[in-house]
Amino acid sequence: MNAVPPVIFSGIQPTGRKHLGNYIGAIQQYVCGQDRGDPAIYCIVDLHATTVHYDPAELRDRVHDTTAILLAAGLDPERCVLFRQGDVAEHSELCWLLTSVTPLGALQRMHQFRDKSASQRELVSAGLLLYPVLQAADVLAYRAHEVPVGEDQREHLEIMRDIAERFNARFPLRRGTGEGRSGGDPGTGGDGLLVVPEHKIPTVGARVRDLQEPERKMSTTGGTEQGTVLLLDEPATIRRKFKRAVTDSDDPPVLRRGDDKPGVTNLIDILAVMRGATPAAIEQELASARGYGDLKVAVGEAVVAELAPLQERYRAIRADTQGLEDVLAAGADKARAIARVTLADVREAMGVGPPRSPGG
Ligand code: TYM
Repeated sequence: MNAVPPVIFSGIQPTGRKHLGNYIGAIQQYVCGQDRGDPAIYCIVDLHATTVHYDPAELRDRVHDTTAILLAAGLDPERCVLFRQGDVAEHSELCWLLTSVTPLGALQRMHQFRDKSASQRELVSAGLLLYPVLQAADVLAYRAHEVPVGEDQREHLEIMRDIAERFNARFPLRRGTGEGRSGGDPGTGGDGLLVVPEHKIPTVGARVRDLQEPERKMSTTGGTEQGTVLLLDEPATIRRKFKRAVTDSDDPPVLRRGDDKPGVTNLIDILAVMRGATPAAIEQELASARGYGDLKVAVGEAVVAELAPLQERYRAIRADTQGLEDVLAAGADKARAIARVTLADVREAMGVGPPRSPGG
């Protein structure tokens, strides 16, 4: 048993169009993590957002939107570290240093790279290829043990673990030289310089599906407009999207989960998460329901009830742009203090820059 509290890290793209999948798969776990993590670190990844075509004038606004959403969802800057990736230069430097142990072929085989490069109309940037290395740097810079994410990030977590293992094998700690991990015992991940992180994927809600095309994940880039429930959607819009959700043509309707019933399974799972119940309990509760209509109404109401207070807090928090900048700046100071220590160890191990002064 590891009694030491884990270092928790996760990242999220800057957009005002965060959806129910982000909320259930990730944001809710961030909020739970802030009292378990020591520390729990959450990063809005503006550098990752530059890997596809984007509007520079909008990027800062979208960072503010996402910061306000996270605060409205319950992140408390006193209990976690919340910051913007681009404010901590150590991420970019570590990304570059990690490219030395990252196989090109592995990056070219990543599903996200293949999908996104195929859909780019303008330029397939080198940044898109290096995206997973920057993501690895995000986590490894903090020697995080645990990374709360949805199912779609599994491949990114695997390559991140591989990069950490390759780094530790290529640049082993030299015993008796005073070189090594600074900053105490992280508790897991072997005894290499970098900690090999574990993903933390929720058991229910790891892959919230599009309400119109339930064979696909809910997503603002690849999903349908009507099948994607945005956290900032009006209550009437949320109710309508659930009422029109695609289920199946079983006659009579069968209210159970199963691989053959992705639409119904999705609705049961969402309702379970909203109620803090198990999907089995929801199936039992719905056993006497007349049809899918009852289920759709129940999920729509539960989601509206969950999101209404979030939306109200969002409006107040988002109005104070300077307040958001202050939160991000304070978070970046805390983040930098941790990342700087790892970078000093990595540079020393790799022979980059001047040798470390004794005790430094
Ligand atoms: P992003 O911004 O696309 O998504 C943020 C989080 O939401 C989860 N998610 C979902 N979960 C359940 N069902 C869905 N339909 C769904 N869609 C998205 C994602 O799994 C993610 O956890 N590459 C990352 C950002 C990142 C990062 C990191 C994550 C950058 N550095 C370091 C972890 C650690 C991304 O684009 O997330």
